[in-house]
Amino acid sequence: MVRVNKLLLATSKSKFLQLFLVNFVLTQVLSDYQGGRWGQGQQRWSQDQRPPQQLRASIRRDSQLSSSSWSGGSQNQNQNQQRSLRSSTTRRPLRPQDFQPPRYQFPASVTQPGPPYQPPPIPPPTSQPPGPNRPAPPLQGMPTSRYDPSSSSSEPSWSRWNSSPRRGRRGGRGGGWSAPGNNPPSPPPSSSLNDPLNPYRHDVTLDPESRFKLTWVVDWSRNLTIFNVTVRTTGWIGFGLALRTPEQQQEHEVADFIIGGVNRDGSSYFTDRHDSLALNAGADPFTRIPPIDPSQDWTLNSFWERSGRTFLSISRPLDTCDVAHDIPITQDSLRIIWAIGETDDIAYHTKNRGYYDAYLLTPDLTPREVLDGQGGQDPSSPMQVFNMTTTFQIPERETTYWCTWHRAPTNTKQHIIGFDTAFPTDQDRQHVHHLLIHRCHAPPGIDPDDLFEGPSNTGGSECYYYDTPNPLPLQYCRETMHVWGVGGRPFFFPDHVGLAMSENGTEYIVLQVHYDNPELRSDLNVTLTLQAFYTDEVREHDVSMLGIGQQIPAATSIISPPNTRGHATVGICPSACTEKGLQGQEVNILAGWLHTHTTGSASRFMHFRGDRELPWIISDDNWNFNYQQFRVLNQERRLLPGDRLSARCEYDTTRRNGSAVAGGFGTAESMCTGHVYYYPRQAGFSMCRTVTRDEDYWDLIKMRNATWDTERRQVVVTDPPEYAGLTVMEHINRNIDWTPEYIRELQRQHLFAPQVAQCSNTVFAPEISLRELNEMARRRAFLPLPPDPNAEHYAINPRNMPRYRKPQQCNARNPLIRG
Ligand SMILES: *[C@@H]1O[C@H](CO)[C@@H](O)[C@H](O)[C@H]1NC(C)=O
Ligand SMILES: *[C@@H]1O[C@H](CO)[C@@H](O)[C@H](O)[C@H]1NC(C)=O
Ligand SMILES: *[C@@H]1O[C@H](CO)[C@@H](O)[C@H](O)[C@H]1NC(C)=O
Ligand SMILES: *[C@@H]1O[C@H](CO)[C@@H](O)[C@H](O)[C@H]1NC(C)=O
Ligand SMILES: *[C@@H]1O[C@H](CO)[C@@H](O)[C@H](O)[C@H]1NC(C)=O
Ligand SMILES: *[C@@H]1O[C@H](CO)[C@@H](O)[C@H](O)[C@H]1NC(C)=O
Ligand SMILES: *[C@@H]1O[C@H](CO)[C@@H](O)[C@H](O)[C@H]1NC(C)=O
Repeated sequence: MVRVNKLLLATSKSKFLQLFLVNFVLTQVLSDYQGGRWGQGQQRWSQDQRPPQQLRASIRRDSQLSSSSWSGGSQNQNQNQQRSLRSSTTRRPLRPQDFQPPRYQFPASVTQPGPPYQPPPIPPPTSQPPGPNRPAPPLQGMPTSRYDPSSSSSEPSWSRWNSSPRRGRRGGRGGGWSAPGNNPPSPPPSSSLNDPLNPYRHDVTLDPESRFKLTWVVDWSRNLTIFNVTVRTTGWIGFGLALRTPEQQQEHEVADFIIGGVNRDGSSYFTDRHDSLALNAGADPFTRIPPIDPSQDWTLNSFWERSGRTFLSISRPLDTCDVAHDIPITQDSLRIIWAIGETDDIAYHTKNRGYYDAYLLTPDLTPREVLDGQGGQDPSSPMQVFNMTTTFQIPERETTYWCTWHRAPTNTKQHIIGFDTAFPTDQDRQHVHHLLIHRCHAPPGIDPDDLFEGPSNTGGSECYYYDTPNPLPLQYCRETMHVWGVGGRPFFFPDHVGLAMSENGTEYIVLQVHYDNPELRSDLNVTLTLQAFYTDEVREHDVSMLGIGQQIPAATSIISPPNTRGHATVGICPSACTEKGLQGQEVNILAGWLHTHTTGSASRFMHFRGDRELPWIISDDNWNFNYQQFRVLNQERRLLPGDRLSARCEYDTTRRNGSAVAGGFGTAESMCTGHVYYYPRQAGFSMCRTVTRDEDYWDLIKMRNATWDTERRQVVVTDPPEYAGLTVMEHINRNIDWTPEYIRELQRQHLFAPQVAQCSNTVFAPEISLRELNEMARRRAFLPLPPDPNAEHYAINPRNMPRYRKPQQCNARNPLIRG
């Protein structure tokens, strides 16, 4: 057994190259097949031949997926060698629910943001507050004049880009975003708190009737957040933060909030309260009168009630240290919860309540006009919009990947400065899982129109495997430019960077959409628009995108045991890849996007240099599938050649009825990937992901070989023969005995087994002769990419290196919070 495995490993490199030949696939998509064992033994095929059916089928469906981890530890070698596939298991009777991942259910009533925010009316003079529980100190340092970055040249200009000269200043380039490197964060001065262009100020309307408006701003100089709420009611207001239960349920496991308002006599009432599932099985804090916190940590700074509106200005320290009753405001996503009472009797229940998911500390650089839905509408503005719109009748199956081609609107270099998505209806929105766009690079000497105009007129094509009726030149469109996931809101770059478009003349962009159709409806026409906002005022630096994490579909690399919380997997971008990809150049990471599926409970991008771990690049311990926001970092991070990155995900399978969950494309399967933006651009360094291919690991999961099953769209076991035909999900649920020892060993392997990385050049197309290319353009049949002999690297991280620890101001944890 072991010998066979060693042999496989030895031959895997050349096989890998062969497999790479068929990577026509959209992008970084390298599937597990390429990295894994199941491609072995394929015949080499010539460039004129189609790849074998099995491999064609294996070419992937979701271009943003994949995985990895560290190695280092093979302490248990002997033990592992003694393991054998046949030593396995008592076989349990096969029950369908063991194998069927639950269908993804759309959230029943997510709050849809209402119409554009209107600033609240100028408040009348404020009556002096004191709430019943504590006197509210007046806010210190509230500005009397606008923050003017030009008057404080040493301070960074965290400005929203204001594209219309008529609307005041434009974000200054000179001030820079923030100093790269490991300097302490340098947020804007508190005098800018009131500035509508302050990126730490967010204006949102929380309900469809526009009754509840919220402005929040982070005051970094005092480590607190100020929430101004203006609500159309003369009754009470409920407002606060909550953590969701796992698997994206709507119940709140813990809630930390205030109930407050203004009495008829002009006095106020205001209490800091808490609630939790443990206290309240009903789980909604506004259906009963929840307990008052012993420590009152929210402060009412000012309030008024007039013309049927109530205004409260509330502040709260980022971390109150009331670990038993408050939720710290961190880089994690949090759920803002709200409720509107119709009277001042807080015992009166209300139906007017909801929630809004947010990263409270993430800067938002979206220009005002985009927030107002007016972005790119003004022809005289330097900011224009390129709409990539697609309408598609979804097939009657759960998961579909569909690509359409779009010709960029100009022929001279532009900078894309931000993105947004538009869905005409909620139904359209609910059936889209993610979008990705990739830049197409026609090979030298080939007119991009010849290559890509045809496909751009066909209405698109299925795009996760090669064998479609109308093969399209996907292999030339592999440089990922942007990615959007469920719940994502607009994303804008800071002022000193932009994403190049039409740099070398005519350019085509392919838009890949993953459609979700869990109800298997046949009548769904889904329309969506990806809006790219661009300007000809080219900025200082070009950005590129880098995909990291575990290779997709990671069926065998991500295996979460049944009924567990916190099982982790890691995907690495090893030193050899950053050395090769960065070609001696230091770059700066400025934004990141985490991606896992509904079993995901936490995710982070980690960064290693030499023998130490640097602070995480981004992290979220409350991972929320329904809110996948691309985030600008609070502080840029310098990435050096030789550094290592890794994406780590944790999973929660306690809501899966005792099923183990394997990796896959579907929403109910697991995934662990993500992207970052960095500058300056390094052409070709756009993907760096790994797969677990270690023989001990494969022994442990009792598999020797697997293949992609086109019909089932699942990875299926082919060897050992007694398990052949089972999907990986079925196999692990049927043939693994999930003892605590087994789970510990699986976890050890997931974190420390050696992994194989793929970090090839995904930008430039193969060097083929002009004659061949012309012929290809005529035939519209497409050649495979040549192998990249340097594509493969083992990812090794020392096991015992000092690890970064998340800073905790208060040295205790909320006992109500899970984990
Ligand atoms: C794995 O399976 C594929 C077909 O499914 C086969 O071509 C290949 O030879 C197998 N590899 C090994 C090592 O058995
Ligand atoms: C919040 O309200 C206070 C009191 O009215 C006001 O001074 C402050 O400017 C407001 N902050 C924002 C960001 O609107
Ligand atoms: C704010 O928090 C940071 C990080 O925890 C800390 O270094 C800083 O001293 C705090 N500032 C204030 C004013 O408390
Ligand atoms: C782009 O799409 C948005 C959203 O659908 C729409 O409001 C806008 O009018 C479109 N703009 C252009 C120039 O097509
Ligand atoms: C444009 O062409 C130059 C020179 O060949 C190349 O360095 C650059 O990467 C190209 N840009 C794009 C976006 O293809
Ligand atoms: C969906 O759109 C196509 C054309 O775009 C049309 O033929 C079809 O009837 C539409 N189907 C539904 C259910 O609206
Ligand atoms: C778990 O089983 C219950 C009862 O059979 C069912 O209602 C529920 O949908 C199942 N949940 C999942 C995630 O499959």
